[in-house]
Amino acid sequence: MSTYILGIESSCDDTSAAVLKDTYILSNAIANQDIHKTYGGVVPELASRAHQQNIIPVVEVALRKAKITKKQLNAIAFTRGPGLLGSLLVGTSFAKSFAMGLGIPIIEVDHLKAHILSHFIDDDDHNPHPQFPFICLTVSGGHTQIVKVNSPNQMKIIGSTIDDAAGEAFDKAAKIMGLPYPGGPEIDKLARIGHPDAFTFPEPNMQGLDYSFSGLKTSFLYFLRDRLKEDEQFIEKNKADLSASLQQTIIRILLKKLKKAAKETGINEIAIAGGVSANSGLRQAMQLTAEELGWNIYIPKLQYSTDNAAMIAIAGYFKYLNGDFASQNLTPYSKSRF
Ligand code: KG4
Ligand code: ZN
Repeated sequence: MSTYILGIESSCDDTSAAVLKDTYILSNAIANQDIHKTYGGVVPELASRAHQQNIIPVVEVALRKAKITKKQLNAIAFTRGPGLLGSLLVGTSFAKSFAMGLGIPIIEVDHLKAHILSHFIDDDDHNPHPQFPFICLTVSGGHTQIVKVNSPNQMKIIGSTIDDAAGEAFDKAAKIMGLPYPGGPEIDKLARIGHPDAFTFPEPNMQGLDYSFSGLKTSFLYFLRDRLKEDEQFIEKNKADLSASLQQTIIRILLKKLKKAAKETGINEIAIAGGVSANSGLRQAMQLTAEELGWNIYIPKLQYSTDNAAMIAIAGYFKYLNGDFASQNLTPYSKSRF
């Protein structure tokens, strides 16, 4: 008999609900919150209010698109953390009450583990799954981690950023250039028409498999401050080259440690996940590195790279198989516990 899981994601500024039939995706509905563009970043209070408005319609759309009724659901999986507490509370409270009404179990999901498990969502394209153990570079707006994935339920962080995440480096640099929020996709677009070697920015010299991106942000800021003194149109004239050069530096930093992790562990099954894995330059660099080093690489489709509830449902499905259900008493967490 098939298992139907409803996934709910509300950790930041996207309200999403998805239905999976075992590992197969039936629907993945997302309501984005454009309101934050006005402020150049996510405003937590506005985000939680928008989640409250969006959650019921989004769940209705997900069920309708999946062509199932709520009575067919076997469990509800939701993001418990990390993320914005006010936002997480909306998804958590909704999941609890909806499940209680239906008399079905709830499953708590860690957002970062879910990004990694997005590689196991099946659709009509028969996306290949990584073989265990594999290495996953998770690059999102709040986190940058290298994870050794032994099984869906057993993962170990072997490297992470000590300050900013890769997504933050993109977003903060974009803000400095006056680009709209979120800056990552804007820099990606501009980088396609710019020269990656036009400007050079320093790469950190971190020990082991850890990352640091705050130095890059600061040097980018100081570089622009100095150039703007000579020419106030400097950013306007060089937007594309600045974007391409910055993006290349971020990708170099990311790949240097990923290559080190592959070498040290002897694993050549390599995946990327999280919002920044949507970056076209990173995707291309992964292809080139895979050819050079003989890696088998796994790059999520764009709709599974950025925040979505299908990844929450697949992570929930693996826990469902183990009977790993959550208590109605649990509360969300803002900081990563994994
Ligand atoms: O995983 P995600 O959707 O949300 C978090 O869990 O944080 O990641 C959002 C991050 C943002 O920093 C956004 O700028 C970045 O992913 N991002 C990109 C691209 N698309 C999204 N960064 C670079 N290039 C992109 N194409
Ligand atoms: Zn995310």
